[in-house]
Amino acid sequence: MSIIVTPLDGPLGAQISGVDLSQPLGDDDFAIIQKALTDHLIFVISGLDADLDALAGFCRRFGPLVPHVLEQYHHPETSDVSIISTNPETGAGRSTDMPAGAFWHSDLSYDANPSDATMLYGVEIPPEGGDTLFSNMVLAYDSLPHSTQNRIEGLNAVHRYGYRGGSAVVDLNDTQGTRHPDVIHPMVRPHPLSGKKALFVNPGFTVAIEGLSEEESRDLLNELFEHATEPDLIYRHAWKPGQLVASDNRTTIHCATAGYEGHARTLWRFIVGGTG
Ligand code: SIN
Repeated sequence: MSIIVTPLDGPLGAQISGVDLSQPLGDDDFAIIQKALTDHLIFVISGLDADLDALAGFCRRFGPLVPHVLEQYHHPETSDVSIISTNPETGAGRSTDMPAGAFWHSDLSYDANPSDATMLYGVEIPPEGGDTLFSNMVLAYDSLPHSTQNRIEGLNAVHRYGYRGGSAVVDLNDTQGTRHPDVIHPMVRPHPLSGKKALFVNPGFTVAIEGLSEEESRDLLNELFEHATEPDLIYRHAWKPGQLVASDNRTTIHCATAGYEGHARTLWRFIVGGTG
């Protein structure tokens, strides 16, 4: 295979061409793809007319896949894949007012072991709307005033499933909730492969900063959330069927958008578990 990585014209992301999942992917080719994710934080592969097994096999190269807490949306063939779908004709899929994930978040930051990466595959794409936004949390950290960088270094934040996702959140049932108590993570995390520091808080799941008063915590988090979602940090992905978009959840946050009312939209989601 001749893998070509072309940076996107924006604050993060690369387009990768030359990937054929019907052929074995050699270690050297995989290393190029993995480096693209580390360097560019997200990558897009277009025109992948691949089946579930081939896609899952590719995603597993990045690490073990973890089943999402909402097991009611697992793919019938494997809990390693979740179906994110809305179909106004059949009523199938999510029934939330806003699309699933329509709030800024990093997948599984509410888990004791936050995920390394998410791969989304476009199965059924509406004629308009339904873009996914991605923000660069390395740039978010780098562009903070030094005083704020110093203030958050060494601080931890509390994360909770669905905390600020409003009507885009499917509530956990009692069993799911019991399995997901609040967790604490450092607010600044160096990426294990690149060593780059990333801001690790997100509007959807981050509740509070440990050791600060309620007011101080709220004000600082709001300041960080506003900064991390400024337009110059964001890549907006307009989907085509057969595209795979991978995001490094240690260095990005993402947000689904609406705007496709009356049309069906289906993505498959693969989550690579956390290694650090
Ligand atoms: C997600 O948050 O994982 C879903 C993103 C999307 O549907 O665009």
